[in-house]
Amino acid sequence: MKWTLQKTLYRTAHAVTKPLLNLVKVPVPELLSGPGSVAQLPELISNNGLQHVLLVTDAGITSLGLANGLLQALEKAGISCTVFDGVKPNPTIENIESGVQVYQSNRCDGIIAFGGGSPMDCAKMIGARVSNPGKSVMKMRGAFKISKSLPPLFAVPTTAGTGSECTIAAVVSDPQAQEKFAVTSLKIVPPYAVLDPELMLGLPPHITASTGMDALTHAIEAYIGGFGTSFTDDYAEKAVKIILEDLETVYLDGSDLERRNNLAQASYFAGLAFTRALIGYVHAIAHNLGGMYGVPHGLANAIVLPHILDFSRADCEHKLARLAVIGGLGDTSEPTADLSMRFIEKIRDMNRNMDIPTTVAPLLEKDISQLAQRALKEGNPDYPVPTLMNQQQCEVLLRKLLPSVENTAG
Ligand SMILES: NC(=O)c1ccc[n+]([C@@H]2O[C@H](COP(=O)([O-])OP(=O)(O)OC[C@H]3O[C@@H](n4cnc5c(N)ncnc54)[C@H](O)[C@@H]3O)[C@@H](O)[C@H]2O)c1
Ligand SMILES: [Fe+2]
Repeated sequence: MKWTLQKTLYRTAHAVTKPLLNLVKVPVPELLSGPGSVAQLPELISNNGLQHVLLVTDAGITSLGLANGLLQALEKAGISCTVFDGVKPNPTIENIESGVQVYQSNRCDGIIAFGGGSPMDCAKMIGARVSNPGKSVMKMRGAFKISKSLPPLFAVPTTAGTGSECTIAAVVSDPQAQEKFAVTSLKIVPPYAVLDPELMLGLPPHITASTGMDALTHAIEAYIGGFGTSFTDDYAEKAVKIILEDLETVYLDGSDLERRNNLAQASYFAGLAFTRALIGYVHAIAHNLGGMYGVPHGLANAIVLPHILDFSRADCEHKLARLAVIGGLGDTSEPTADLSMRFIEKIRDMNRNMDIPTTVAPLLEKDISQLAQRALKEGNPDYPVPTLMNQQQCEVLLRKLLPSVENTAG
């Protein structure tokens, strides 16, 4: 089919979807927030009448003892807790099924999702499988396929981050197909979330950087896409402002509690925005780099983001210019073209200052065609991007990320 006709069809799909999406009422979690707020979680769990919760986390977090304070507080409050720390980065169906077994054999009655996006997404899916035992993870793939509500779920993010504590999504890896896919459902939005920056003080600089750039990408893609509302724009603007002001400082000094707190809020704000206004090609490409090579999600986003913004700039110049002004990079008297380019340059500077590479180390020329196909299959027509991309354009962009072109890709 001719590309012009294809584009018209995609835009028609966007026009039909937007009003329908606006009708969907995404629940907002009840929050505990601020330094030390995780200490209030046992009381909240107790008030929900729970007796034995499953804490879903990963081995890195257990080895750091990050949940120890919470575990002691739960014990003091008379709540039993079983720890399942078998979640791998980019969690798999196998991880989810192992968690389901631990939940059932311990007769748990609620779940604490404790960690970055990987444990939070795994916990969401453990909950979904527990309450829908007849439905496999594969059958839940895609949108709105979970019928029964999850057991009480309390999300405690330790990165800032994915925003998974307030989103309708869980991202699952299928290592056999070398693919990542999303399960989306209103039922997996955690009813409770804890934003405690003290849990993030020990995040190593490179994870602070990549997870912070993930949150920035959520805010930007929600803002420049076609499904934004005043609600999502407002939260996306707040998130961009905080991340531009604070992320590099926290990269250099991880012990800055006030800025860590700001970033935890920003990640949550970006989550509120993108779970309603959706994401774009940066994520479509990043998911597939993650699925094919295991590239960490935030890192992939950070590398791809400036390229997609270059590609789309002319069609979202005013919005990027507004973000530049919000980020303190200029003022409204300046031409929007200049401001929008300065905003993209700022992202490149942030990447450089936080030692994020300009290329994807494992990327191979032979995979580019398939990667582009998969990314566009994910993005078109589901993501309401400012500029539509075809196979050839996507391949050109991916070639700029080949390691052999390091330092020349800009
Ligand atoms: N559900 C959603 O809406 C959504 C949105 C974006 C991304 N995701 C998914 O989330 C996953 C990525 O999550 P992530 O970027 O948060 O990384 P992650 O959860 O995979 O964690 C990365 C590493 O950081 C470590 N870590 C986490 N918190 C720490 C802390 N406080 N101190 C020290 N180390 C810590 C972990 O042990 C792990 O080794 C991907 O699978 C991605 O696709 C989901
Ligand atoms: Fe993301």
